[in-house]
Amino acid sequence: MGLGEVTNLLVTICLFAVPATSFLVSSRRGVVHPHPSSGETCHAFATSTTLFSGGFGAQKSKPKAKKMNASQAKKAQKQLLLRYGGDIASGTSSRIARAIDALDPHLKEAAGLYKQVTQFDALVSPMTEEDRKRLIPLVQEEMANADRARLLSLMEDHDISEQDLHNVYQEATWSASADAKATQADIAGNKMKPELQDRITKACRIAVDASQCEDSVGRVLDVGCGHGSIVLSLTEEGLGNPDMYVGVDLSPEMINAAVERYGSERNGRTGNGRTFIAADFLRHDFEGEFDSVIFCSALHDMPDCLGTIEKAATLLRTGGKLIIIHAQGAQHVLGQHKANPVMVKRGLPLAQEWKEMIASDSDLKLELDIEPADPRSTREEREGYLAVLTKTL
Ligand SMILES: C[S@@+](CC[C@H](N)C(=O)[O-])C[C@H]1O[C@@H](n2cnc3c(N)ncnc32)[C@H](O)[C@@H]1O
Repeated sequence: MGLGEVTNLLVTICLFAVPATSFLVSSRRGVVHPHPSSGETCHAFATSTTLFSGGFGAQKSKPKAKKMNASQAKKAQKQLLLRYGGDIASGTSSRIARAIDALDPHLKEAAGLYKQVTQFDALVSPMTEEDRKRLIPLVQEEMANADRARLLSLMEDHDISEQDLHNVYQEATWSASADAKATQADIAGNKMKPELQDRITKACRIAVDASQCEDSVGRVLDVGCGHGSIVLSLTEEGLGNPDMYVGVDLSPEMINAAVERYGSERNGRTGNGRTFIAADFLRHDFEGEFDSVIFCSALHDMPDCLGTIEKAATLLRTGGKLIIIHAQGAQHVLGQHKANPVMVKRGLPLAQEWKEMIASDSDLKLELDIEPADPRSTREEREGYLAVLTKTL
């Protein structure tokens, strides 16, 4: 995050762990718009679902984390810079702009309006009515209302959902940065700074343990898997059989990078190897159950936090684990939300919110095992964000 899309910042204030007001209902001048569609069936631009797996590979799995020596690293960095026109941040921004520019005209227009309206809503939502009247000029309110009205009509006419629009920015941003992120991870030997890596290792151990107990079905799902950032950690924690791993990511470029690095491992002669799926987690139909579903730095990028948790819960076997890890912590995610509410709609759920969610939704069937630390707490400084839940009967 923080690439390209961070440029147009309007926002200086954000609510603590509270979602940005939905642009469908927000307006000081009192207009409450009906939701134009549930959005769940719209595939106006949905990423095609692509399954990748296997290849002719090794007998036993050890992902090949290519350790680069200093001169290889220097060369890789130089080539990467060339691919991004000399500067990764501005190269990424240009790629994002090109991706948005290449959209169908109505989707492009809707995406532009969605960005304006979301940024406006994030700016005004923490304000009192009085502050809003004092600080936001009437002309700005009127422009936001006009943008909102045009956006809603485009959405209705072209069957575009809020989820579609969120995904436009997610896919453009992560595809634009996939090469850079994957290459930089290669250069670093696929490890983060030790204190952050320890947190990821701990989460991966919980995911792997769930896949190796008596009731396990032998499958782990890595949601928002990116370029396969935690494949190595999962393997080191004991996910020895590549067939057990399924990764899903909205960005086809991220999935390409993951397949290039980790897609060729097979389980002896007969296994299929790791499965990488380029799709929206919320729209993909997964086959079978999982022992664990892990979101590593990914839950906050989803368009619908509760919907995502509900779906993850349905994919778990009884006793399976839902693991949400963000090594840098919930405070870091709140900073991302503040900087870019278009990409990050809200903060991560805190302990109290998890409890309320579970208590208010009897279909959720989850139990909170490990409560996440609060933002800015000393525990968060020590541990980052980790929430672990067990699927109950
Ligand atoms: C911050 S990155 C994290 C990547 C990786 N897990 C890591 O720890 O490095 C978030 C990832 O979530 C993916 N993503 C966003 N929305 C998604 C969705 N609806 N379904 C699947 N993946 C999604 C993005 O494409 C991106 O690769």
